[in-house]
Amino acid sequence: MADIVYSTRPLSSDTWGDFARLVEANNGVWGGCWCMGFHPEGLSKASTAAGNRRAKEAHVRTGTVHQVLVFAGDECVGWCQYGSPAELPNIKNPGAYAKELVQLPDWRIGCIFTGKGRRGKGVARAAVSGALDAIRAAGGGVVEAYPEQVEGRDPQQGAYLHTGPETLFEEFGFTRDRQIAKWRWVMRLSLDV
Ligand SMILES: CC(C)(COP(=O)(O)OP(=O)(O)OC[C@H]1O[C@@H](n2cnc3c(N)ncnc32)[C@H](O)[C@@H]1OP(=O)(O)O)[C@@H](O)C(=O)NCCC(=O)NCCS
Repeated sequence: MADIVYSTRPLSSDTWGDFARLVEANNGVWGGCWCMGFHPEGLSKASTAAGNRRAKEAHVRTGTVHQVLVFAGDECVGWCQYGSPAELPNIKNPGAYAKELVQLPDWRIGCIFTGKGRRGKGVARAAVSGALDAIRAAGGGVVEAYPEQVEGRDPQQGAYLHTGPETLFEEFGFTRDRQIAKWRWVMRLSLDV
């Protein structure tokens, strides 16, 4: 079978409807997070799917979100979120992260998502590639990702890999900086323009 050709577009007011259709087709993602976990509001027990949706849309309208959407034809099939540490302050394992922090990166990769039925076909690869292109176009700098180690452990379900599998970032030249949980690493890449 020929490889699927994907295109990418930024999440914006123009593409909000495409993004919303993908989230709705996947039960809100994690039951309704609407990809709000890394944003300053984060997720709490009081968060609701409707509130998360409103908050995400507000970020889109005010331009406080950076997210590359992947399209197969006209259908949005996945994304890679990125942004500055101020835009995406809520990483997992913040205590362990802060312990050996020397300098914050210029950019972070946040959540990565591929719609059910579309997985294992290079959507996440296209999403990360698109995010790195966008970062380069914005001036480059040090980019951090917080992926899960996948080698040396049992196969993991997709949801565990919401910050991406380590092997995917290795493909793009990211290297391990430090370990912040049993299976989670800070990986870094310096992107020149
Ligand atoms: C993790 C996830 C993003 C991968 O997306 P995908 O489009 O299937 O990934 P790709 O097909 O682009 O895979 C690229 C590489 O990543 C690695 N990879 C992808 N899925 C993997 C898995 N389940 N286990 C181990 N490695 C995996 C492989 O190295 C793969 O390369 P290969 O196919 O040549 O071996 C997807 O499973 C997913 O969306 N899971 C849910 C994440 C989530 O809940 N996000 C919420 C965000 S708010």
